[in-house]
Amino acid sequence: MKHKAVSLAVFMQTGQKRVEHALDFHLPAEKMLPQKLHEAMRYSTLNGGKRLRAILVYATGQALSIEPEKLDIAACAVELIHAYSLVHDDLPAMDNDELRRGKPTCHIAFDEATAVLAGDALQTLAFHLLCRPQTDLGSDRALRMLETLAHASGSYGMAGGQAIDLESTGQKLTLPELENMHIHKTGALIHASVKLAALLHPDLNPSIEKNLDHYAKCIGLAFQIQDDILDEESNTATLGKTGGKDRANNKATYPSLLGLKGAKEKAQALHEEAIKSLELLGDKADMLRSLSDFVIHRHH
Ligand code: IPE
Ligand code: IPE
Ligand code: MG
Ligand code: MG
Ligand code: MG
Repeated sequence: MKHKAVSLAVFMQTGQKRVEHALDFHLPAEKMLPQKLHEAMRYSTLNGGKRLRAILVYATGQALSIEPEKLDIAACAVELIHAYSLVHDDLPAMDNDELRRGKPTCHIAFDEATAVLAGDALQTLAFHLLCRPQTDLGSDRALRMLETLAHASGSYGMAGGQAIDLESTGQKLTLPELENMHIHKTGALIHASVKLAALLHPDLNPSIEKNLDHYAKCIGLAFQIQDDILDEESNTATLGKTGGKDRANNKATYPSLLGLKGAKEKAQALHEEAIKSLELLGDKADMLRSLSDFVIHRHH
């Protein structure tokens, strides 16, 4: 089937199935000791979720004509880091949430210490998987992939953004400060999802690389803006996580600074910028275009 004939819904479903199958394969068996830790790792990863980051890996692969088999490890790695970030984000010391993906959060289903360890172990599993010889591209490229994911996950990326989020609670941030927080806490891993797939291309044209980078930065920020909008506008049943928590926790968000209308306009502008940056890629980037649209129009 030609890629253009595949709808976004089918592409997403295929990517979800594909990465879930790979995650199931790579996660330690539930029966393996220490059993509670392994159960918590599987519970927090194989529990639904949109798999947007994995799907971005596959869609970038499609835009660059890279076979899905070569993308599976990168797709698993970004979803494992994401799952870890959610387990820790939900802890009482952070957002103190009891519902995630429609189910009790890890520390509720297990206990806090297990949730801390499950997050730790999910994170290291991501890097462990990336260390496997997974392509014929050589060790230089494998190291660049590791560096990309490490940079996006640690204090220069997601963890740094989460620290800013906690420090900013109850504060009125300026727009550049808020943008900086979102770029780090959420944008960095979304950016890495696109970048990891691009690194699997043996000889990527530097302008295409730059354009993909810009696309990923735009949708990464737009994704968290839409997350803020949904927290304000939607409800617990649709979200599978408790709605209205940002306001209740006094979080700095786009709607709290710009209002819902201003936040939506910003998300729309980022979507348009993302689409513009894909011009050079032609039809093969249609799925990336549809995903940008999905990011700002999704309901959960
Ligand atoms: C939620 O991410 C956390 C943020 C970074 C905003 P997602 O909305 O992608 O969560 P899942 O994976 O679909 O549950
Ligand atoms: C989380 O942002 C970003 C992460 C790095 C996990 P939020 O705290 O807004 O995510 P949700 O709304 O709990 O999913
Ligand atoms: Mg949070
Ligand atoms: Mg949260
Ligand atoms: Mg949120």
